[in-house]
Amino acid sequence: MPVDGLITQERTIADALLAHYRVHARALPWRSPPGAPPPDPYRVWLSEIMLQQTTVAAVIPYYERFLARWPTVQALAAADDADLMAAWAGLGYYARARNLLACARTVAGDLGGQFPDNEAGLRALPGVGAYTAAAIAAIAFDRRAVVVDGNVERVVSRLFAVETPMPAAKAELRALTDRITPDAHCGDFAQAMMDLGATICTPTRPACLTCPLSAHCAARASGAPERFPVKAPKKARPTRTGTAWWVEADGAVWLVRRPDKGLLGGMLGVPGSDWREDGALPEAPLPGDWQRLNNGVRHVFTHFALELGIARLRLVVPPDPALLAKALGPGQWWPLGSIGEAGLPTVFARVAQAVLEAGGEDGDA
Ligand code: ADE
Repeated sequence: MPVDGLITQERTIADALLAHYRVHARALPWRSPPGAPPPDPYRVWLSEIMLQQTTVAAVIPYYERFLARWPTVQALAAADDADLMAAWAGLGYYARARNLLACARTVAGDLGGQFPDNEAGLRALPGVGAYTAAAIAAIAFDRRAVVVDGNVERVVSRLFAVETPMPAAKAELRALTDRITPDAHCGDFAQAMMDLGATICTPTRPACLTCPLSAHCAARASGAPERFPVKAPKKARPTRTGTAWWVEADGAVWLVRRPDKGLLGGMLGVPGSDWREDGALPEAPLPGDWQRLNNGVRHVFTHFALELGIARLRLVVPPDPALLAKALGPGQWWPLGSIGEAGLPTVFARVAQAVLEAGGEDGDA
């Protein structure tokens, strides 16, 4: 295609998408309506951190609770670490919560309460990667930025019928997104691409009949749009096993604070054995009459699935906390009656639920 033809096609794609967005934009709590001035950067940043690897539907209630409790970056910067981690519980990828606090404190402190208004400045903040910096620059400051998330990759791979498999195609998809990104209405364009990917250009059975870009779409012309993005064969996800040590005394359970680094870092959790791939049953960390419950928990993390058995020790007299800290890790007694308020990440909330469901059951030791 001659260069003029390409430029015309790219403008037409952006125009067609923006025209569609003006009518069909999803009303989301962190958004301004199409064409309106950008929202408060604090809201955009908070939403984008929450939306990393998490669906819009899962984020909305968390976003609304956070905004009501911490309406400004200064308020968030002053939050107690444990309160914030507890409020984040259930959203997953807990490094985000620690970075959220570090970032709020940087902005409220060193930066005088103002978020940087450009990609490079944003990128320097804790927890803000290339994608998030581009999204905030476009949405909060209407900067021209190339915003590419998984939804956008799918849309662009179809528009141009990119045959390179993922993830090798990432650089090519970014360059193609750059080509179709307009110089104005950048925040609307980025969010219009996200909406298209989430609601019309879906992974399976895309709704091409209602798509504003169908006339430009090479994958649609090929007759098999769902073949894109082309995927490299998937690696199998390994299964790890472990045991949660549920120690109960006086109507309370011993919970540990997990180390800051690593999976579920900084969160409260039920103590437990290592999680291993060899399936070996671990030794109990304390002498006593341990009962192994019949119901365990299966939880799928990004890189492995976890099968977590539960061993319960019910004690009449609470042991010395120093002894428990040595055997199980530093922590605290948490009343069983308010275990729902401990802010446990999902995998441990399910352990607690399994124990409560087991009631007085005594399984095989
Ligand atoms: N995913 C990431 N950012 C988003 C946004 N601003 N709107 C909708 N989905 C998103």
